[in-house]
Amino acid sequence: MEKTIIFACLLSVLLMSSSSPPAVMGKYYSKSRVVPVPLTQKKTELHFFMHDIISGNTPTAVNIAAPKGVVVGEGNIGPFGAVYVFDDPLTVTADPKSEVVGNGRGFYTVVSIDVKNSWMLLFTGDIGFTSGKYNGSSISVFSRDPLVQTKELAIVGGRGQFRMAKGFLIINMVYFNATNGDAILEFNCTVFHQ
Ligand SMILES: *[C@@H]1O[C@H](CO)[C@@H](O)[C@H](O)[C@H]1NC(C)=O
Ligand SMILES: *[C@@H]1O[C@H](CO)[C@@H](O)[C@H](O)[C@H]1NC(C)=O
Ligand SMILES: *[C@@H]1O[C@H](CO)[C@@H](O)[C@H](O)[C@H]1NC(C)=O
Repeated sequence: MEKTIIFACLLSVLLMSSSSPPAVMGKYYSKSRVVPVPLTQKKTELHFFMHDIISGNTPTAVNIAAPKGVVVGEGNIGPFGAVYVFDDPLTVTADPKSEVVGNGRGFYTVVSIDVKNSWMLLFTGDIGFTSGKYNGSSISVFSRDPLVQTKELAIVGGRGQFRMAKGFLIINMVYFNATNGDAILEFNCTVFHQ
């Protein structure tokens, strides 16, 4: 009788331990837990200008790919399938010589077939700040980006002080040269974060 009880105890201990395998077995996830969400979140508004310069000897945006046989350049800056990588300065005013507060880095791709009537990019960029309160923090943008005077893009995340960010940005085209693609863009961001 006593032996049976001991055996039963051992068996249950074995069964319990087999349901949570030891770390050496290569478990790569933790048990999910229910956590409280904050009742409030922060709302921060950001205002700055991004300079996207394709022309000249020191461009901030470069064409890295295009459809086979298509030459991208002045007069044909954005055929369907063209991809640009950018590292654009962010400044406090529309003047390129004004104070730099960060940089927008990423790539954009022409994603509309009908570029004549509905020219559209997919903007995939990390907008990072290098001064002030948000130095070292950035917001992640992943969005459609049509060629219109004023547009809205989605903020899908962030780093640092903008961890878990969500929000939107309104971009106003201050300057655009359709021949060489140079642009100065005014960004008004509304960011909700923790
Ligand atoms: C921003 O942060 C970096 C890294 O911590 C630091 O080196 C730099 O001096 C800071 N810049 C400003 C303007 O505060
Ligand atoms: C647009 O770019 C072209 C080619 O670089 C240049 O000739 C023209 O002057 C520019 N237009 C404006 C308004 O800056
Ligand atoms: C962006 O914000 C600035 C400063 O708050 C404001 O003057 C401007 O009208 C706003 N632009 C847009 C397109 O919302």
